[in-house]
Amino acid sequence: MPVDRQDNSRDRQQIMLRAIGRVISPDAVEPKEIEIAPGFANGLDGVEEHEHLWILYWMHRLADADRRMLQAHARGDTTQPERGVFALHSPMRPNPIGMTRVRLVNREGNRLLVEGLDALEGSPVLDIKSG
Ligand SMILES: C[S@@+](CC[C@H](N)C(=O)[O-])C[C@H]1O[C@@H](n2cnc3c(N)ncnc32)[C@H](O)[C@@H]1O
Repeated sequence: MPVDRQDNSRDRQQIMLRAIGRVISPDAVEPKEIEIAPGFANGLDGVEEHEHLWILYWMHRLADADRRMLQAHARGDTTQPERGVFALHSPMRPNPIGMTRVRLVNREGNRLLVEGLDALEGSPVLDIKSG
């Protein structure tokens, strides 16, 4: 079911986000490398103390139509009934933010090597938190 395009209420603010980095590894590679932009690298200090991190990223390859979807099949399994996207981890959603808990393998300067990241190559990284 598509988003109601007539809903122009004041609750629907536009918010500008700045990517702090991006995923630089090809899709099939594991573990994956994240490169943090030099201006944000100081924010990584102390990250090595954590075995796990939360990575928040933008699913930049989604089409506009995917962002209008409010219902989807869990894991794309069409034998299952559709559910609201806010009840799922579907990539199709109005704000395609992915959040994944990863294992930190290594940090070298402004680069992180992480295991378990499901972001595609080039995904803008929005935030990192200890996990
Ligand atoms: C099911 S979503 C879940 C993402 C995250 N673990 C979460 O729970 O928010 C993960 C899938 O989104 C897709 N995906 C990842 N990065 C993407 C990107 N940059 N653009 C479009 N699709 C992406 C990939 O198919 C990946 O397997």
